[in-house]
Amino acid sequence: MSIAIIHADITTLAVDAIVNAANESLLGGGGVDGAIHAAAGHALIEACIKFPEIRPGVRCPTGEARMTPGFALPARYVIHTVGPVWRGGDHGEDMRLAKTYRACFALARQHDLKSLALPAISCGVFGFPSDAACAIAVEECLLALRQNRFNGAITLCAYSDEMRRTYLHYLAMMSPD
Ligand code: APR
Repeated sequence: MSIAIIHADITTLAVDAIVNAANESLLGGGGVDGAIHAAAGHALIEACIKFPEIRPGVRCPTGEARMTPGFALPARYVIHTVGPVWRGGDHGEDMRLAKTYRACFALARQHDLKSLALPAISCGVFGFPSDAACAIAVEECLLALRQNRFNGAITLCAYSDEMRRTYLHYLAMMSPD
């Protein structure tokens, strides 16, 4: 069990699963979602569309996760999750982001995955402040490992060097090792 922090394009990582910061439709979008769909190929959207709609247009409510194969990606699987949209900070965003990370770890554990790479969920289009989001991400990774809710290698994949340094700052602050 470990946490690694890297600056990379998550679509290039050969891990058991990469996490996609999707939206509730699971039908693709921009940002990391667009990059993952482009790299995985058309089979990914065909797999996503098969998830039942819980409400019209909603295949994965905010804070939940769904898993598909990785198709043309080097990763074996994609865990699609939906982080909260930032609405000023008074709408339970912190708790909802933590729940999103927990859903990814629970699914990874359920499928006995040994390595998982995650992007900075909600930090792009959904507008979550990076500093607060990185702190929550690191805290949830540490909690998942300590509480044995996920017992594999976790990679937090930053898409900028600034984000990588923010993750490292919180890891150093929160980790006694
Ligand atoms: N690899 C790693 N990280 C990436 C990549 C990539 N190839 N592309 C973008 N990112 C980073 C962004 O820089 C940001 O830090 O992923 C983080 C999350 O940003 P978004 O992809 O915009 O995700 P999010 O804020 O959760 O918004 C989700 O965006 O594209 C739509 O369909 C998606 O509607 C959903 C919304």
